[in-house]
Amino acid sequence: MEQTPSRRTFLSVAAAGAGGLLLTGAGATPAGALTPSRALAADPFTLGIASGDPSADGVVLWTRLALDPLGPNGRGGMPSRDVDVRWQLATDERFSRVVRGGTESARWRRAHSVHVEVDGLEPGREYFYRFRAGGRLSPTGRTRTAPAVPSPRPSVSPSSASSVAPAALASASLTFAVAACAHYEHGFYTAYRRLAEQEPDLVLHLGDYMYEYGPRGYTALGGSVRQHTPGPCVTLADYRLRHAQYKSDADLQEAHAVAPWLVSFDDHEIENNWAADVSSSGAPAFARRRANAFQAYYENMPLRRTSVPGGAAMRVHRRVDWGPLARFHLLDTRQFRDDQACEDGLRSGCDDRLASGRTLLGRDQRDWLLDGLATSGARWNLVGQQILMAQRDVKVGPGTEVNMDSWDGYAAERTRLLTGFQRSGAANPVVLTGDAHMHHAADLKLDFDDPDSPRVAVELVASSIASDGDGYRDEGRIAETIAENPHISYLDQRRGYIVCRVTAEELDADFRVLEHISRKGAPAKTGARLTIPAGQASLT
Ligand SMILES: [Fe+2]
Repeated sequence: MEQTPSRRTFLSVAAAGAGGLLLTGAGATPAGALTPSRALAADPFTLGIASGDPSADGVVLWTRLALDPLGPNGRGGMPSRDVDVRWQLATDERFSRVVRGGTESARWRRAHSVHVEVDGLEPGREYFYRFRAGGRLSPTGRTRTAPAVPSPRPSVSPSSASSVAPAALASASLTFAVAACAHYEHGFYTAYRRLAEQEPDLVLHLGDYMYEYGPRGYTALGGSVRQHTPGPCVTLADYRLRHAQYKSDADLQEAHAVAPWLVSFDDHEIENNWAADVSSSGAPAFARRRANAFQAYYENMPLRRTSVPGGAAMRVHRRVDWGPLARFHLLDTRQFRDDQACEDGLRSGCDDRLASGRTLLGRDQRDWLLDGLATSGARWNLVGQQILMAQRDVKVGPGTEVNMDSWDGYAAERTRLLTGFQRSGAANPVVLTGDAHMHHAADLKLDFDDPDSPRVAVELVASSIASDGDGYRDEGRIAETIAENPHISYLDQRRGYIVCRVTAEELDADFRVLEHISRKGAPAKTGARLTIPAGQASLT
């Protein structure tokens, strides 16, 4: 089913090719006319389009103009001047009912990126958008607003306030995809294309969207299928060029065009295993490098103004409410963390990792998260973050060996956080994770070594889109890992993504897998489907 081009894929291509024919009706809306601006020599929409961070009344529309994505100095072959970009948002794919439109300046100082924050829209509905610049029309993107969060009626008794939600909840559903880790050299982005074909309402990308290494700086077992731009990324020009290379990929463009995304970075958007102001490579002037990486990240992602970086600081932890059904809490597990314990890596017998004062989130973000859980009236509380939260002992047999870069390296804070989950009273917490390059499903417990310790939440970890190349399924290794870590119930080393369907009653997670990515065209299939019934913080 997923192997045939979807309706969306077809229409997106058709819109790009049909040009001005699809402007019919646009002129009827005062703000909506896409009149030609100063001509450009070629198509400036080579990096695609995107939308993100939906609210109940709006969404961010993004594009970045580049005539030549791999042109010198990360400038995308663009002139050193600002360029007007017209945009339209309509309720139909043919743009016969344009409801918003306007002009934004694609500033050359921001790599000719455009972030339009549209507001005043209807909650819980689909919209279509497109841009025009230099006489060229962009492909059409599909996006949507979040459903409204019902405001409680003035209550005369405690029970009347809660009577609003059930009606809105009963019919609510949401399908979202979870993706992470897309090393460009390691394989083709077939997984992004398969994800797009499933037409989710929303896509969560949990980091390692791009990798900073130079060509062959990090090689997969099976070798490389394509090559990074010169690197490693250090300067603003390096990061801009690398993002442009990634964004040029047609499969990635399809995934952006199909739904709004919620993105947050992990390490490789900046540097491998960085921690706050500490560079893992000890390179000098890391603050400057981090500022460069943040600026390029903002320029290339559909983020709101609240995420505009101020030098080496950038806010990506944020909440997105999806009606009464779900609240997304997106975390930043890099910018505020203590340095990795015991010189990082896989370690046995590292007492420092257990130190009670160590933090991964930083106090402010931890308080913000616990507050967001305590005040959430949503049926599901979906915590999007980067690194494996469940304990994972990689040493078979006696003894323990764990990864200092993941939550195992910050064990006391994990316990505090999971205790906070419990005390917050937030309904149905589910942690969504990237980074591990393997699918995982796990129960999160206050004490992973105690079989009787209560489960507090469920963790679903998305494998990589491309990182580490063609995956595999090593049944022996899977059995060993699960025996060593009985709170982990599912593992798969193949490439893929997760598709979650959420209703008031349950969350179904389809772990999608592809047999290969070193050649194009692999189908995606469901490696496992796991169901979390509402009210039970465990998997069935
Ligand atoms: Fe990764």
